[in-house]
Amino acid sequence: MTIYVPADAAARALGSDEVAAAVAREAEARGISLRLVRNGTRGMIWLEPLVEIEPEGGIRTAFGPLTAADVPALFDAPESHPKALGRVEDMDWFKSQTRLTFARVGLIDPLDLDAYRAHGGLAGLATARAMEPAAVVQQVTDSGLRGRGGAGFPTGIKWNTVLKAQAAQKYIVCNADEGDSGTFADRMLMEGDPFCLIEGMAIAGHAVGADRGYVYIRSEYPDAIRIMRAAMDLARRAGILGPVFDMEVRVGAGAYVCGEETSLLNSLEGKRGVVRAKPPLPALEGLFGKPTVVNNVISLASVPVILAEGAAFYRDFGIGRSRGTMPLQLAGNIARPGLYECAFGLTLDRIVNEIGGGSATGRPVKAVQVGGPLGAYFPPALFDTPFGYEEFGAKDGLIGHAGIVVFDDSADMLGMARFAMEFCAVESCGKCTPCRIGATRGVETLDRIAAGDPAGLPLLTDLCETMRLGSLCALGGFTPYPVMSAVAHFPDEFVRSREAAE
Ligand code: NAI
Ligand code: SF4
Repeated sequence: MTIYVPADAAARALGSDEVAAAVAREAEARGISLRLVRNGTRGMIWLEPLVEIEPEGGIRTAFGPLTAADVPALFDAPESHPKALGRVEDMDWFKSQTRLTFARVGLIDPLDLDAYRAHGGLAGLATARAMEPAAVVQQVTDSGLRGRGGAGFPTGIKWNTVLKAQAAQKYIVCNADEGDSGTFADRMLMEGDPFCLIEGMAIAGHAVGADRGYVYIRSEYPDAIRIMRAAMDLARRAGILGPVFDMEVRVGAGAYVCGEETSLLNSLEGKRGVVRAKPPLPALEGLFGKPTVVNNVISLASVPVILAEGAAFYRDFGIGRSRGTMPLQLAGNIARPGLYECAFGLTLDRIVNEIGGGSATGRPVKAVQVGGPLGAYFPPALFDTPFGYEEFGAKDGLIGHAGIVVFDDSADMLGMARFAMEFCAVESCGKCTPCRIGATRGVETLDRIAAGDPAGLPLLTDLCETMRLGSLCALGGFTPYPVMSAVAHFPDEFVRSREAAE
């Protein structure tokens, strides 16, 4: 018998280590020999710790959310366990997904290379290595894959720039500095299927002529750091990594701005994490001045399936210029938080109310912030917006890294706008004036609005315009999105503060 108890950081935070210990204790007390696998999560965080039992030759069934006290009953009569859920694959929430990038996450032991192979792993790398580099780049271009870190730049075009650059040394850098609030897809992928990222990076290396890669992981992700390092050691021993392409993990030091690609490169070089002006693009002058692919975890982890199944297979999913699938991360005040991978195109209404089950408090949903702390607030009136890069852009929003944070009707939108400015002031690298000074003035201006100063709102609008147009990077340039969307969609709250003060 095999028992799966997730070791994903979210599951651990909800008590999965205690459940795993209880399973081991109970099995020993009953003299039962079992294989305890610490898998990644299936993504249904409201059901964590979600334990699965697979009898020898039998059906793998789930139970959750479990506590250590629920474990003895698992061994007595699993069929009648009060927390029995049946097969994960039969659950609506799970079976309505299109799991391409996350196909193996939660299913296998993350550090079992044989299981990785048995579930389709390394097929993409084998296909890629049998192709000319330019043909691999063409496949990625044809797939329509766009940067999943937030900007949505076509991955194939970026790779082509690096491929065509003439240099003796090139690099692949994976941006795993997942700093956006409400996002966790990078972490879950690294913790649940690390070989997938390794494979994606090795394919990128072959495609552009790079023999060295770095995964820059934020220090707040100790489990991901440990698992990625262990997986790299195993891949090296199996000959997947080596002289042709090798990689290592580098750990960030906690600055949000180091998720911006040029400050990330500075940090990797051992310098202060300050943004560099572009051009030159990292694709031409990146790490140590060499041509560098800088891609997000999910962009790179989406490449193996594209090579294994073909560009057309991947491109077939999605809408408009948003092709393939996106791992939506549902967080905040939501009944069913978790990771839901699906083709682009679902409306926000379906995502929040049907898949997410509405707010956790049961109160009406007031707003949803999509795309992290730099994303716009969308009110229910905009919930008919389909999930896609252009579709959100047309409504002055962004999908970013697909973090979806839900707020109920108790949310204070002026307070949220103030938080955005405060966040920018704290995290600013200080290189450019609109952001360094503007964010601090923004906090003060919002305080003036709250205190009833009628001159505050026009000043805030003007300041946001200056930050949007004059900032060097997305931190200062995008902070106006949450601020001005709160003003645009919840104008009463900005006026009411004034009235209350009068
Ligand atoms: P950007 O639009 O400047 O660049 C996008 C990417 O395309 C960069 O890698 C850039 O070097 C590359 N690029 C542009 N033109 C190119 C060309 N001709 N050839 C090759 N490569 C080219 O956007 P940026 O500043 O890199 O990212 C902004 C986004 O980051 C925002 O949309 C935001 O949502 C997201 N973000 C994500 C975070 C996360 O935790 N995942 C945190 C903060 C922001
Ligand atoms: Fe630095 Fe802010 Fe300017 Fe970006 S916008 S370069 S974070 S000061």
